[in-house]
Amino acid sequence: MKSLLITGGAGFIGSNFIFYMLAKHRDIRIVNLDALTYAGNLSTLSPISNDPRYSFVKGNICDRTLLDALFNKFQFDTVVNFAAESHVDRSIVEPDIFLSTNIIGTQALLHIAKRHWNIEPDNKYCRVYRSGVKFLQVSTDEVYGTLGSSGMFVEEMPLLPNSPYSASKASADLIVRAYHETYGLPINITRCSNNYGAFQFPEKLIPLMIHNCMLDKKLPVYGDGMQIRDWLYVEDHCSAIDTVICKGIDGHIYNIGGNNEKPNIEVVKTIISALGKDNSLIEHVKDRPGHDRRYAIDNTKITTQLGWTPEWTFESGMAKTIDWYQNNQAWTDKVTSGEYLDYYEKMYLQN
Ligand code: NAD
Ligand code: DAU
Repeated sequence: MKSLLITGGAGFIGSNFIFYMLAKHRDIRIVNLDALTYAGNLSTLSPISNDPRYSFVKGNICDRTLLDALFNKFQFDTVVNFAAESHVDRSIVEPDIFLSTNIIGTQALLHIAKRHWNIEPDNKYCRVYRSGVKFLQVSTDEVYGTLGSSGMFVEEMPLLPNSPYSASKASADLIVRAYHETYGLPINITRCSNNYGAFQFPEKLIPLMIHNCMLDKKLPVYGDGMQIRDWLYVEDHCSAIDTVICKGIDGHIYNIGGNNEKPNIEVVKTIISALGKDNSLIEHVKDRPGHDRRYAIDNTKITTQLGWTPEWTFESGMAKTIDWYQNNQAWTDKVTSGEYLDYYEKMYLQN
């Protein structure tokens, strides 16, 4: 039986991944370690709270004592590290927590995994690990920086992150790579493009626009709205990570994307039209500082070498996502009460 430590599993992609894995694999045990920040919501996971294959632990990935105890108790063979501060705008306002969770937290996980998986834990030069173990770091295409009007991100590109968020994720990638090069720790790094789907916190473009549009509120488009993102439905990201866990070559990095490049303004207009509203809701606001202009993922490596392909088109994924937010307004209301409103006021109302 596989024993997985999933960090950040109460967030958007982590929760979708846990649902995906429990549905796909019978013989599996999952421990979800999540600090339950503003972005983590246990109610999302209530449908599986009685599944004997699943446990939740509230805690911080920086807490080495807790990590050590969990490795002792559950004998993990796989770590999938989703836990992160994930929102670029927040990282511009308050970068400190991004460095602590995204970099120091990742290193704490690596440190404890290395100790528990090493066949000679007290030998600092030993690079031999129990068979079948893997540390998978969930990274992002933002580590590559920004593209001009042509070209795509490939795995060999230099890292040129532009925001405190992407710099913290790039730093984490480098420390994960260093644990592989120096200590031989079995790792993979995945770098995915922008995700959308159910349970995404409505601070990110697509859920924010759906939420505001449903309530006839203004839709804040940064700058000219011609920035391009490469969209992937979250279930396709989940299947890609599952593929990398099963087939990824030790030490390799895999880009994940579905070839869905869209300017932001087009995405916003798609939502307006699907909800039968009017383009007059659009409000062009001050641009994000250091705003990356274009992302585009070359997914040749994962498709040709590991046989992964995305199943959702942008149209089918968006229809399902809009439908989900329309039918789950209570979830959005719950997660956007309290602290989120303070942040929202700081970001938009004072600018
Ligand atoms: P999210 O913000 O929705 O969820 C993050 C989760 O991590 C939350 O449940 C939060 O409580 C938890 N967390 C935060 N700090 C923690 C800590 N110190 N210890 C334990 N748990 C902690 O994020 P997401 O959008 O689901 O992204 C998940 C991962 O995927 C991140 O690593 C992100 O960089 C990466 N990623 C996201 C996207 C995207 O489009 N959302 C694309 C590519 C990669
Ligand atoms: O590319 C992967 C990354 O995608 C992930 O690593 C990040 O965790 C995730 O947050 C996302 O980052 P982005 O900055 O691309 O996503 P966001 O949804 O914040 O913004 C998408 C685009 O929309 C971006 O160009 C900024 C713009 N935008 C965003 C918001 C929230 C607006 O124009 N208005 C908005 O209100």
